[in-house]
Amino acid sequence: MSYPHFPPNFLFGTATAAFQIEGSPAADGKGQSIWDVFTHTPGKIRTGENADTACDTYRDPQRDLALMSELGLNAYRFSIAWSRILPAGRGQVNQKGLDYYRRLVDLLLARNITPFITLFHWDTPQALQDLCGGFAGRDMAAYFADYAEIVVKVLGDRAKHWITLNEPWEHAAFGHLLGTHAPGHHNPFTYFRVAHHELLGHGLALERIRSIAPDARVGITLSLTPIYPATTNPRDIAASKVANQFFNDFFLDAIFKGRYPEPLWSRIGLARPRVLPGDLDLISRPMDFLGVNYYSREFARAAWYVPILGAWVDEALVNDQEQVINGAQYTNMGREVYAPAFYGTLMHLKNEYGNPRMYITENGASFTDKVENGQVHDALRVAFLESYLESAAQAIRDGVNLRGYFIWSLLDNFEWREGFDKRFGLVYVDHKTQQRIVKDSGRWVQDMIKNQPG
Ligand code: FCB
Repeated sequence: MSYPHFPPNFLFGTATAAFQIEGSPAADGKGQSIWDVFTHTPGKIRTGENADTACDTYRDPQRDLALMSELGLNAYRFSIAWSRILPAGRGQVNQKGLDYYRRLVDLLLARNITPFITLFHWDTPQALQDLCGGFAGRDMAAYFADYAEIVVKVLGDRAKHWITLNEPWEHAAFGHLLGTHAPGHHNPFTYFRVAHHELLGHGLALERIRSIAPDARVGITLSLTPIYPATTNPRDIAASKVANQFFNDFFLDAIFKGRYPEPLWSRIGLARPRVLPGDLDLISRPMDFLGVNYYSREFARAAWYVPILGAWVDEALVNDQEQVINGAQYTNMGREVYAPAFYGTLMHLKNEYGNPRMYITENGASFTDKVENGQVHDALRVAFLESYLESAAQAIRDGVNLRGYFIWSLLDNFEWREGFDKRFGLVYVDHKTQQRIVKDSGRWVQDMIKNQPG
């Protein structure tokens, strides 16, 4: 079998998030997060499950680290639960929370696995939600920078790669516009405020981290979803442009160009967040890298009835079952498997955004896995990884400044609103027994890494 080839020193990792794997929501003085509350609110999680145990990683991180070594991975992206460090979101520091992550980092380094630490992967401390509405409140940006400082002061001597936020679009949109994620609000005004304040928090934290750890490398992780026009009709083409601004350019332009994109910004009208002088300067300070989470492309068509956007983005076509539609494979979350659009996104970042140093901080697929005689033959996930990693390798050959690739995810974990129903892991987890089984896709990754030249 031939494998995609990457340059020397390329990082191969997996990504996880605290809430999705750790469990132990009240251990060692941890405060509640909005996700603890949301998952215990009836009707919010499709399966009725919660993440109180999840992959039980908090109680036994070693088991997962051993798996990373077994697969030959040399990097690991994980997130810190803010409310383990600051149970009330600010003020009193919880030493035991810091100790947990310090130990985790030390265990990684002992295995020659480079840590990439995400400071915020959606789990706002409930106390800050109550105090200022989470990122709906401008003060949240400053609280975030204070929390970042506390963490980096303790871990910055050993962990050098920091990701301020994970996917600000998803937290703003799912949490505050569509209401499908914590804190479960439906308000376009709040949506834009959250998005701006998240970016402000990124800018403040970036500055703060630099001031205390000059050798830290700091970036942000954005989810990028290229929006294609559903037809060749010029109105659909125009709709896809505005939709791209809503999903992608709002964040990319703020960070790399110091402005919000037009015509979207003018169209927001009354829902426009308050932007104070200096905000965009702070947001657009140079970073060390961009983290890219990529899952799939979407299609837009003109829709006069959708406020602000005038565009409708086709929802995922199917749910619950993977299937082939018009020759294209879809995952069981309704995402089309189409690596050329991923390649196109990387080239777009090279050509339109100055070819920043990049890491793929998430990419992966959820398919229905079956355990057969103690094995999981996830051929669809193997095919997915083959095509996406090959596209990344091709983009590098075509000049894209991509330095590493984190597959989502190491383990089958708590997939937010979907509960444990949707599996993304290279390693299968039986959530009743916590038994782990390396899937065929995990073995494929292991072989791919082994077969790198030099
Ligand atoms: C991303 C999230 C991550 C995971 C994957 C499947 O949007 O960042 O936590 O749920 O989707």
